[in-house]
Amino acid sequence: MGVLAVLILPLLLFGISGIIYIYRAVGRLMSKSAVQNKVVVITDAISGLGKECSRVFHSGGARLVLCGKTWEKLEALYNALISVADPSVTFTPKLVLLDLSDINCIQDVAKEILDCYGCVDILINNASMKVKGPVQSISLELDKKIMDANYFGPITLTKALLPNMISRRTGQVVLVNNIQGKLGVPFRAAYAASKHAAQGFFDCLRAEVEEFDVCISTVSPTFIRSYHVQPEPGNWEASIWKCKVRRTNESQRSSRSGG
Ligand SMILES: NC(=O)c1ccc[n+]([C@@H]2O[C@H](COP(=O)([O-])OP(=O)(O)OC[C@H]3O[C@@H](n4cnc5c(N)ncnc54)[C@H](OP(=O)(O)O)[C@@H]3O)[C@@H](O)[C@H]2O)c1
Repeated sequence: MGVLAVLILPLLLFGISGIIYIYRAVGRLMSKSAVQNKVVVITDAISGLGKECSRVFHSGGARLVLCGKTWEKLEALYNALISVADPSVTFTPKLVLLDLSDINCIQDVAKEILDCYGCVDILINNASMKVKGPVQSISLELDKKIMDANYFGPITLTKALLPNMISRRTGQVVLVNNIQGKLGVPFRAAYAASKHAAQGFFDCLRAEVEEFDVCISTVSPTFIRSYHVQPEPGNWEASIWKCKVRRTNESQRSSRSGG
């Protein structure tokens, strides 16, 4: 009885702090603005998936760094983003020209990003170069270019930003990979090989930097049907927003009609 009386208060305190911890953790997870103020770098923000990520992070209040190979497309994305978002809860995105197969320029890009924000919270390695064809018809030069864009490029950028994440003991690196980074299919040898290499690298890195609270994720989709695959005629830059609205209207109509 005496021992129980002594233990009851610490146990009660332990239980209450456990409940508070879980409550806060769930609150953080469910918070719509989990990315508020976070510095998020997206490589190839102008691709189908990159655009969708840009829209979600921008409207969530992230400080975005949008990377892409073509300045005009980056500017078009920038205009589309700021035209639909509430300026009082969003940040103006930073645009950065980046061709990931140009390995020599990546250190400068990383420096430009760190000079601008001082840190990176989330790096999304989304850029990727595709190639399809029989092995004997793909030149070794193209094989190497694919490896540069899909493997050496993303790992160089990650290595350049990683020390900052490790020293801050926080950060998340995402590799947007492909199911072909886990299995082989005909006529995709160069692409699948580069994706396998990237998968292996980031799997090892995950185990290596876990102790510094840096989180490494890989995503391996099969096919993605991004909105801009079926653009509005003559207006594909804005189509990801238009399609979204159209889909919303359609789903409202069908829910009204009970469909
Ligand atoms: N779409 C799918 O069904 C699917 C399925 C599984 C995984 N994924 C993955 O999802 C990610 C995004 O794919 P997506 O389909 O949204 O892209 P996407 O629409 O096919 O566009 C490919 C993009 O990559 C850019 N790019 C090519 N080489 C580059 C380089 N060296 N540096 C920078 N950018 C480069 C292209 O720019 P330019 O047009 O200027 O050349 C283009 O914007 C990729 O990692 C891909 O492997 C996609």
